[in-house]
Amino acid sequence: MKKPWGGRFKTSTSKTTESFTESISFDRRLWRYDIEGSIAHAKMLAKQGIISEDDSKRIIEGLKEIANEIEGGRFKFRFDLEDIHMNIETALAKKIGDAAGKLHTARSRNDQIALDLRLYLRDESKDMLSLINRFQKTLLDIASKHINSLMPGYTHMQRAQPVLLSHHLLAYIEMLHRDKDRFKDTLKRINILPLGAGAIAGTTFPIDRMYIAKLLNFDDVTQNSIDSVSDRDFVIEFLSDASILMMHLSRLAEEIVLWSTEEFRFIQLPDAFATGSSAMPQKKNPDIAELVRGKTGRVYGNLFSILTVMKGLPLSYNRDLQEDKPSLFDTIDTLKACLNILNEMLPEIKFNTKRMYETASDGYSTATDIAEYLVKKGLPFRKAHEITGKLVLHCISKNRRLDKLTIKELKKFSPLISDDIYPIMKIEKSLEEKRSTGGTSPVEVKRQIKRIRRILDIENKQ
Ligand code: ARG
Repeated sequence: MKKPWGGRFKTSTSKTTESFTESISFDRRLWRYDIEGSIAHAKMLAKQGIISEDDSKRIIEGLKEIANEIEGGRFKFRFDLEDIHMNIETALAKKIGDAAGKLHTARSRNDQIALDLRLYLRDESKDMLSLINRFQKTLLDIASKHINSLMPGYTHMQRAQPVLLSHHLLAYIEMLHRDKDRFKDTLKRINILPLGAGAIAGTTFPIDRMYIAKLLNFDDVTQNSIDSVSDRDFVIEFLSDASILMMHLSRLAEEIVLWSTEEFRFIQLPDAFATGSSAMPQKKNPDIAELVRGKTGRVYGNLFSILTVMKGLPLSYNRDLQEDKPSLFDTIDTLKACLNILNEMLPEIKFNTKRMYETASDGYSTATDIAEYLVKKGLPFRKAHEITGKLVLHCISKNRRLDKLTIKELKKFSPLISDDIYPIMKIEKSLEEKRSTGGTSPVEVKRQIKRIRRILDIENKQ
């Protein structure tokens, strides 16, 4: 097969070289964007009188036919044609003859691939935003159902203070919110047109870059041709946003694994979203959560892969940049799969609220409330902390519950203690009192649920 660069070469490319250098096996996924970009380019070339209106029309019609063929699965991708750009251009030449050769005027594959990637990532970012939104809504629906479910909140993996299950779930919604913000911010930098940079230096043709930007809905055009063909910051940014998002999903996954253990028994996994062990009949494994956690490693790896590819690259375009795509595509597929399955699984999880409540109440989780009670009676916090600590130590050594101590026993620790301490030691009371903004009181959590629902509704309409 004659290559588009064949003029400079005496012999043909070896098969090994072809299979080593090809990218069509993965960049074919960009076909829609490659065609969209080429159509805009052809329109601009005609508008500027660089090619005739006639040629431009034939090019555009041909490209649309090719799009239909690819869409319908009738297009034959060829490995000897290296990449998506050359596959489409060659097919175009077969359809419309010589005019096809004019499409690549004032353009190079270097600015073409940068354009395709930006168009593709713009769509993917929007998909990502709506998937996160949907997942937040799922979490919010579950949270709304558990406005009265108490659970132990943990620090250092030790029971710390009672919290509402809904409050705990809202924490993930907040994280996902920031994730969306990051993707939105990255989108601003993705949405800049690189086309017109040519191979590296710009072009001698009187092109109109703003016109193409308008046709393709870009906010602006890039301002340095060397940077335009060698910049992959937007890919790196997307992959870091994705890594942070995966980290959040992984923490949720870890809690699902933990909570489903015999030791915790906070949740029961739905049969449809668990697997058995081929060796141990009693087991029901949280494989989905484990895999979400595990796949996080891959997503981090993909970020590191592109960072490493880029770090030593001299300006401008180098073929190394072709290696950005497998990592990027893998991250996108992985994220979508994780968000989809978590979104399906979570509503089916049964929360063992009785067990959560018991666990929250049988420890010393109201100790901080007792310390705060003593502060309100006039003690400095540090002193109150010490007295409460001694109280807890006493209970541990005598194997007693705090709320079962008599008033006489309690007074031994501080004369400030009186009967009004008993309600303080109830976990419901402890919760109710946490009314500070962002705290776990039912009043505040209900307010947060309302606030989030309003935000999500607005975002859904956008
Ligand atoms: N397959 C290449 C990539 O992904 C497309 C650009 C190739 N440009 C070139 N001059 N070989 O980056």
